[in-house]
Amino acid sequence: APAIIPPRGEPPPPPDAAIASAREAARTAPTLQALRELLESFDGCALKQTASRLVFADGNPEARIMLVGEAPGRDEDIEGLPFVGRSGKLLDRMIGAIGLDRSKVYIANVIPWRPPGNRTPTPQETQICLPFIRRQIELVDPDVLVTLGNPSTQALLGTTEGIMRTRGKWRDYDTGKRTIRAIATFHPAYLLRSPSYKRLSWQDLRSIATVLAV
Ligand code: URA
Repeated sequence: APAIIPPRGEPPPPPDAAIASAREAARTAPTLQALRELLESFDGCALKQTASRLVFADGNPEARIMLVGEAPGRDEDIEGLPFVGRSGKLLDRMIGAIGLDRSKVYIANVIPWRPPGNRTPTPQETQICLPFIRRQIELVDPDVLVTLGNPSTQALLGTTEGIMRTRGKWRDYDTGKRTIRAIATFHPAYLLRSPSYKRLSWQDLRSIATVLAV
C-alpha cells in the first residue's frame, strides 16, 4: 500500500495508520539525505507541529560508532542538532574520554522532534518514530551502537529492565542487513543529576573503546 502522508495542515492520521505509514516510508529511503527529506515531509507524528524544526543527526555518517538518545530538548530544537545543550556538552566529554569527537561519531535520537515542554514521548509517538531511527541505523551501518538512557535502550534493544541492569552489557542489534554490537549506558542528563554514576559510565566507555580497537 502507498504511504499515507496527509497534505500539510491536515490533522495527523490515527496512530495505527501513522505507524504503518512510517514503516512503509522509512523502508523506501535509499540514503540518509532521502531519509531526512522524508522526515521533513512526514506528517504522521504530532510532535512535528509543536517543534520548531527537525533534529535529524550530527557527526560523521561514516563513523564506526553511533550514539542514540531519546528526544531533542530546547537547545536542540533551536539549533536543529542533537545533544548541543548541557547534556550534549557532557556527551562530548564522555566521547572525548575515549579519544573521540563529533567528527568520529554519529549522533541521533529515537524521536527527531522536541516534545512540548520536554515531556516524555508517548509510546505511540515512539512507535511512529521507531522505523525512521531503525532505518537511520541501517544506513549508517556502524560497528557499534550505543543507546543513551532507558527510553532509547528499551525502544531499540527491546529491553524491559531499567538502565541499572541493562547498561554495560554487549547485545546484538539486527540492522536488517547484519548484526552489530550494541551497548546501553547512562544518559548524560542522568549523569548530570547523579554524578556518582560517572564511574560506571566510564567502565562502559572503556568497554566501547576496547571493542572499537579490534
Ligand atoms: N537529550 C536527548 O536525549 N537528546 C538530545 O538531543 C538532547 C538531550
